[in-house]
Amino acid sequence: MFRCASFFAGVGGIDLGFEQAGFDVVYANEICEKASLTFKQNHEIRLDTRDIRDVQSSEIPDFDVMLAGFPCQAFSVAGYRQGFDDEKGRGNLYFELERIMKDKRPSIVFLENVKNLVGHDKGRTFSIIRSSMQSLGYKIHYKVMNACEYGNIPQNRERIYVVGFLDEGMSDCFKFPDVIQLETTIGDIFDFEGRVDDRYYYGEDAYMYDELKRDMTSNETVYQWRRKYVRENKSNLCPTLTANMGTGGHNVPLIKTHHGFRKLTPKECFMIQGFDRAFVLPENVANSHLYKQAGNSVVVPVIRRIANSIISAINLEHPVPSKGVITITGFTKRD
Ligand SMILES: C[S@@+](CC[C@H](N)C(=O)[O-])C[C@H]1O[C@@H](n2cnc3c(N)ncnc32)[C@H](O)[C@@H]1O
Repeated sequence: MFRCASFFAGVGGIDLGFEQAGFDVVYANEICEKASLTFKQNHEIRLDTRDIRDVQSSEIPDFDVMLAGFPCQAFSVAGYRQGFDDEKGRGNLYFELERIMKDKRPSIVFLENVKNLVGHDKGRTFSIIRSSMQSLGYKIHYKVMNACEYGNIPQNRERIYVVGFLDEGMSDCFKFPDVIQLETTIGDIFDFEGRVDDRYYYGEDAYMYDELKRDMTSNETVYQWRRKYVRENKSNLCPTLTANMGTGGHNVPLIKTHHGFRKLTPKECFMIQGFDRAFVLPENVANSHLYKQAGNSVVVPVIRRIANSIISAINLEHPVPSKGVITITGFTKRD
């Protein structure tokens, strides 16, 4: 198995995708206490909960693949787009990854971020990230992919994925996954028939009930309440989950069910990110935190497919003997 170190791990969505493809996560770092609780319920390794800026490279075990969905508020359309100059210092966190890349020289780097990273500051931000990786010797591949086209998950979620290889041969063998048919429906994921906890329903006393009743007509559609009106999304697709849904006027998507109009539950939000039903949500964490964690995370099947493509590139370049341990320059595979 190839060893991964996961940075900005959140609840570990990227970790899960790589593990499902056969990688071994040997280290993970995440500062948020609430996200750490969810991570710990679902992953066996010990989580390093320090600020990444306080982590010395020498304290990180050796690894082959760097995984990082680094904070995107500084680049996202929803944020203020201050990029590297973000006043809260969130834009600069990429440079912590650069520092660790320099010190640890992982053979492969996998990054995930909002689509807007590509165009941010007329392309300069992404160009700086690419140049930084290239100057460290990485050959870069990147692609914007939508979960509904690449993950068989009915969510409209476009994200940029970056894969860098130190080994030119491996890089030449790498190809992002192809589009696949969307077969999963929102009805496979959301419970339109069963009854969930009362707190998720909007009763007749809700101030927007009349609008919900008038405009939410289909149970093949996911809706959103946008301050004064109901927004209907493309049939059978959930809108992009966001990290701020469930807080300050940013509403959780809505569905019309047999028992009334309701918002999605946190579990449903994780499932529309492709997490397994068995993924455990901690009980002592407020829903607002769980919604944020789901919105911040990734669509696991997309990650798994990219991780599988990375495995194919490794195997094409370095066919693995049937038994034993092989070491490719700077790259260890244990089977
Ligand atoms: C976009 S989210 C990544 C989510 C993750 N990919 C997942 O699947 O849940 C970015 C994460 O970086 C964490 N983070 C932000 N600043 C950090 C820092 N200075 N040190 C460590 N983690 C940090 C946040 O708490 C957040 O969980």
